[in-house]
Amino acid sequence: MAICEIKKMGNPVLRREADTVPDPTAPEIKALVEDMFDSMRAASGIGIAAPQIGVSKQVMIFHVPDEDAPGNDPETRQKVIDNPLTVLVNPAIEVLDETMEEGWEGCLSVPGLTGLVPRYKKIRYTGTTPEGEKIERVASDFHARVVQHEFDHLLGVLYPHRMRSNASLIFTSEIEHLEDKPTEEELA
Ligand code: NI
Repeated sequence: MAICEIKKMGNPVLRREADTVPDPTAPEIKALVEDMFDSMRAASGIGIAAPQIGVSKQVMIFHVPDEDAPGNDPETRQKVIDNPLTVLVNPAIEVLDETMEEGWEGCLSVPGLTGLVPRYKKIRYTGTTPEGEKIERVASDFHARVVQHEFDHLLGVLYPHRMRSNASLIFTSEIEHLEDKPTEEELA
């Protein structure tokens, strides 16, 4: 277990397509997930992907937000962090609703900034856990957004690359000037 340095935008590992993991149940994957968890927790994130700690493998972890989480509740983010962790090795995403909605996102690899990102409203995602269990879930709204964000890391894509306009890429510290303020959880 270790807290690792989180790679930041500009590091080539974040722009690379991550490698498929041949055996999701390998001990090295369990160790990798522990390092990812420790690093995410130390940075107060709600999700992280392996490339963010410099390992180009298709592994992502996140806390599933409650579908009915109150958006502006200051305790919402803490609640999300307290939710059970999902670990996905070799994940895949299928779009179930082509509708895209814009929402605020932040990223541990793009510290200090936040931006408006279009994401599919509803998806199905699949993957394998390090215990060898298959996961298949339907997700919408913020849950779907978190999954799409982390999955993008495995494609070598960061949220600023998905933004329709960089006019909404701002420093989190200046959010008070926005009329449409992002919620706490959206900044995680
Ligand atoms: Ni991120």
